[in-house]
Amino acid sequence: MGEHLVAPEPDVDLRHHGDAEVVPGLLDFAVNVRTGTPPPWLAERIAASVGDLAAYPDPGPARAAVAQRHRRDPGEVLLTAGAAEAFVLLARVLRPRRAVVVHPQFTEPEAALRAAGHPVERLVLPPDFVLDPAAVPADADLVMVGNPTNPTSVLHPAATLAALARPGRTLVVDEAFADCVPGEPESLSARADLPGLVVIRSLTKTWGLAGLRAGYLLAAPDAVRALADAQPLWSVSTPALVAARECSTPHAVAEADAWARRLAADRAGFAAALSGLGLRVTPEAAASFLLVRFPGAHRLRADLRDRGIAVRRGDTFPGLGTDWLRIAVRDSETNSRMTRTLAELL
Ligand SMILES: Cc1ncc(COP(=O)(O)O)c(C=O)c1O
Repeated sequence: MGEHLVAPEPDVDLRHHGDAEVVPGLLDFAVNVRTGTPPPWLAERIAASVGDLAAYPDPGPARAAVAQRHRRDPGEVLLTAGAAEAFVLLARVLRPRRAVVVHPQFTEPEAALRAAGHPVERLVLPPDFVLDPAAVPADADLVMVGNPTNPTSVLHPAATLAALARPGRTLVVDEAFADCVPGEPESLSARADLPGLVVIRSLTKTWGLAGLRAGYLLAAPDAVRALADAQPLWSVSTPALVAARECSTPHAVAEADAWARRLAADRAGFAAALSGLGLRVTPEAAASFLLVRFPGAHRLRADLRDRGIAVRRGDTFPGLGTDWLRIAVRDSETNSRMTRTLAELL
């Protein structure tokens, strides 16, 4: 069971993100964007769209491509300026009486709700962050959860999340890291049958497009219409729409899947190496990062920084503290460099 906590004022800096931890010259284990991205074929197509910038953006082709990729109708798709815009649109449109955010998770969903004036209740899962659907209050009419979750890397079973959907409740599942999981077996993106479900996806992480602002949400057509009405006109630029279209083709999905398989192997090796050094690695990691616990981890973070390596602090995530760090999984050679440095420091 998780710990319930009404947090009247944020007790942590919800607006702290991993990019603040990386300064030029540091080896980056802090930000979860895949290295070596965007791939050249994608960068070329985005660059080619510059010739079309005189016209206002037309989301039609991207919407159709995203719908096909997730076996949904185009009317169930809303393109957004990254997942971040989707959180803001939901906060603007919904009038929750009891909003519950499952933590530890990415802090922007809670920050967006608060910025829109909604009280937020936290369901803080204890380590190892397994979600019991019964821990979510039955009368919560808005539930926000990540899958796989940042920063825990925990992947909740689709059945667990599906059990949270019900009439009268909006269930928001942030799947910004779903394509880290080969075959995406726990994704709810194709589940048009679940009442009140909103799935949020991002192109930022897997495709290396943090600076472009490209993402989308999948929901019932009436929800999509209401959210679209709250969206600034032409919010998603033509290059971002080209990216959404190109990243939804079977070719792109297969490329992401092949990467996810390599990631799984690199992650397993890295997790074993870190465990061997005495760090407690949160088990069952499914995303492109590991959450580790070590007494005095905040000092280790400072020492790593002195050695030219950036990792993500854990203490700005509700439910974690100064003993936690999030470490991105890189290729095996880069991971080994991190392991060697850690071995020297420990
Ligand atoms: C879990 C999660 N969701 C969403 C986002 C935001 O993604 P986007 O760049 O698409 O706004 C992030 C970025 O760190 C994230 O970690």
